[in-house]
Amino acid sequence: MTVRPIITAPDPRLKAVSAPVETVDDDLRALMDDMLQSMYAANGIGLAAIQVGVAKRVIVMDLAREGETPQPRYFVNPELVELSPEREVSEEGCLSVPDQYDKVERAARIRARYLDYDGTPRDIEAEGLLAVCLQHEMDHLDGLLFIDHLSKLKRDMILRRLAKARRQSAAE
Ligand code: NI
Repeated sequence: MTVRPIITAPDPRLKAVSAPVETVDDDLRALMDDMLQSMYAANGIGLAAIQVGVAKRVIVMDLAREGETPQPRYFVNPELVELSPEREVSEEGCLSVPDQYDKVERAARIRARYLDYDGTPRDIEAEGLLAVCLQHEMDHLDGLLFIDHLSKLKRDMILRRLAKARRQSAAE
């Protein structure tokens, strides 16, 4: 397993629309293993393949709290089947938008279909953090970041802060 570097905004690759996976095989499982390790190494709770530069519709996630048993989850070719009309606002961050957080409104509950680590079709109903995280990660598969849900003013401010942080760390 390899920890892969995570791409940060405004890298144009993050805007790519990822392609569906044709077969869940050992190569894909190796990618998912790498993604999970990369996510853990960066202290994240979710990661889409495009964030390590691979334009495939693959997501890994672990919402276990610190001290709890790890609960890795894998979603291949996820599709939203149902979105509740009720919406909920929560604070989001993203490993590709490091150290920046803002409030995003999304469907409060969702139903999704996907293939698991073994390629078995699954159906999931989600609310709370799982619903937020799934919608956030599925956005990545279509080239969207959480900052794309914010006003242009807020988005530009966050991108300026990222550029500044990058300049500062380059100067160190
Ligand atoms: Ni993200």
